[in-house]
Amino acid sequence: MNKITSLFGIQYPIIQGGMVWCSGWRLASAVSNAGGLGLIGAGSMYPDVLRDHIRKCKEATSKPFGVNVPLMYPQVEEIMNIIAEEKVPVVFTSAGNPKTWTAWLQEKGIKVVHVVSSSKFALKSQDAGVDAIVAEGFEAGGHNGREETTTLCLIPQVSAVTDLPLIAAGGIATGEAILAVAALGADGVQMGTRFALTKESSAHEDFKNMCINLKEGDTKLHLKQLAPTRLAKNKFRDEVEALELKGATPDELRELLGRGRAKKGIFEGDLAEGEIEIGQIAALCGELKTVAEVMDELVKSYKLACQKDYSW
Ligand SMILES: Cc1cc2nc3c(=O)[nH]c(=O)nc-3n(C[C@H](O)[C@H](O)[C@H](O)COP(=O)(O)O)c2cc1C
Repeated sequence: MNKITSLFGIQYPIIQGGMVWCSGWRLASAVSNAGGLGLIGAGSMYPDVLRDHIRKCKEATSKPFGVNVPLMYPQVEEIMNIIAEEKVPVVFTSAGNPKTWTAWLQEKGIKVVHVVSSSKFALKSQDAGVDAIVAEGFEAGGHNGREETTTLCLIPQVSAVTDLPLIAAGGIATGEAILAVAALGADGVQMGTRFALTKESSAHEDFKNMCINLKEGDTKLHLKQLAPTRLAKNKFRDEVEALELKGATPDELRELLGRGRAKKGIFEGDLAEGEIEIGQIAALCGELKTVAEVMDELVKSYKLACQKDYSW
């Protein structure tokens, strides 16, 4: 047992991050059934779709699972009411002010974790009364911090300012990496990219196949003027890059982005026009596997790594 396994009542301190267009009930329940904590990603779901995913997840697992809610979501109030009505035990909030919903959720017996990319926001989350913090570094897939602090630099700094249970995210997909962040002060890990590239992920097969073949250097952080997002190279990203190099204004970027780019890339598999959101660690994911295989490998490689002699 450690701070994270006892907080959520799970076997391994391994969390599958909420991911738009990837983490529905299938992925979340598979991770929970394998001993981790699966999160349904509410960011790409209408409220009634979320309710359906929560119910299906309850049918597919008797283990704890949670929902990730990006707080800038337009129907956030409706989403939170559904989460409370359905008695979801854990909520991971991101992209917004943790003060807004933490107490409301906790009054209903729900554990609340907030995702941050700096020590400053870790302290704000602590002030808001969260139960744990995810500190997510620059390597991560999806939206990212503006300051570009890497996981290796972020975890010890967040760990120095708070005693709250700390979950490291960004660039983690092996047992060795789990051990490394534990050495830096993390009590658990949140992984996105590795789980987005599994058989149970609801991402389009073409998206998965493209991402699993990415190499070192194939993803970069763009759109810092809007919402910094790590993108794999494709036609759309080339257009973003060209516009950014010309010194485009936020409005020009917004116009190019339009609507539904992430859905196009991740869910519809439009590899030219869509946003291909994925983390640096895609280059090390190897092949598409089932969640059970990934979890088994993580646990085994973590245990092996713990047995190595690191003395000088
Ligand atoms: C395709 C994709 C979509 C994501 N969507 C969300 C999201 O909706 N909400 C969120 O808080 N984080 C989101 N993330 C971030 C993950 O939850 C997780 O923190 C991150 O992927 C960890 O870094 P890694 O990709 O290096 O494992 C997303 C990541 C990916 C790859």
